Amino acid sequence: MTSIVRDQWYVAAYGREVARELFSRTVCGESILFWRTEAGDVTAMSDRCVHRRFPLSQEPSHLVGDTVVCGYHGFTYGSDGVCVAVPGQTRVPRTARLKAYPVVEQDSFVWVFIGDPDRAATTDIPRAPWLAQDGWTTVSGMEPLAARASLLVDNLMDLSHETYLHGGYIGTPEVAETPITTEVDEEARVVYVSRHMADAACPPFYARSTGIEGRITRWQDIEYHPPCLYLLHSRIAPAGVLPPEEGPDDQAFHVEVVYAITPETEHSTHDFWMVARDFALDDQGVTDFLAESNRTVVLQDVVALDVLEKVVEGEKENYQELSINIDTGGLAARRLLAAMVEEGAAEQAPVAVR
Ligand code: FES
Ligand SMILES: [Fe+2]
Repeated sequence: MTSIVRDQWYVAAYGREVARELFSRTVCGESILFWRTEAGDVTAMSDRCVHRRFPLSQEPSHLVGDTVVCGYHGFTYGSDGVCVAVPGQTRVPRTARLKAYPVVEQDSFVWVFIGDPDRAATTDIPRAPWLAQDGWTTVSGMEPLAARASLLVDNLMDLSHETYLHGGYIGTPEVAETPITTEVDEEARVVYVSRHMADAACPPFYARSTGIEGRITRWQDIEYHPPCLYLLHSRIAPAGVLPPEEGPDDQAFHVEVVYAITPETEHSTHDFWMVARDFALDDQGVTDFLAESNRTVVLQDVVALDVLEKVVEGEKENYQELSINIDTGGLAARRLLAAMVEEGAAEQAPVAVR
């Protein structure tokens, strides 16, 4: 049974990846072709020519103005995916059209809608405004993950693993030691997990970027919008400077860690990661440091999850897990995802006719 949620928006690419060149990415098992029109709009259509399935992203396929010409026999398609010319005859078969995907550019991402396109307009796209907003500087990347998306969701919902898997980067003992609070907004379908550390060691990731020496207040507030968008609102300040709970926090350093978790296939994932900060905006040294150390951290997860995928897939009939308090957020996320998968399956199932 599929684990992929359909009828949802997924991040397919960063806007910067799509230009006046043919770009292809597989999202939820569908090979999608992206390019920009001469006016700068992103298009999304199937990357398989209707004639003999030659990938349109493959040379010598190419763009001519706002059309894409298949490199095999020359079928030519407009930006809406409709075929406008075929070789050797003037009549273009009426069914000659590529599947076109609803596509939206927002918050530095290219979002595509996977599923029934008629549902796109009524399905919300979650926001991550910091990524393309004045007052923030963002570093970002994308790592291919040879593991199912749900393993990355598990990983991100439980940050106690920072202490062990990412010690020396973002992990300190206090992360694993501090209990979490979890809330689920069933209606909006959002999982919140918070861990507020009043007095913690400052890991190198934050010490070098903020310049703080000594102990810190460190808040981690997760907001997961299944299936694709994960936000970690991170707040750092020297210990004792901020009010203990809510209150003015303009003396704090804010870091918005964002992940877009996009299934490539049932067993592989596009792991988009971003780190936006509201300090040292023009400091290239800080930018380079955060980019490099965050990528290192992401790759530590990738290595672990690639191993885990093999284990889970190889022993699927035959293994058990044991969950504890730290898993509350991850379990809530799994439950929401499973419900969303089930809804999609129910809609696709044939209706019995009497
Ligand atoms: S496969 Fe594209 S034109 Fe033949
Ligand atoms: Fe991690």
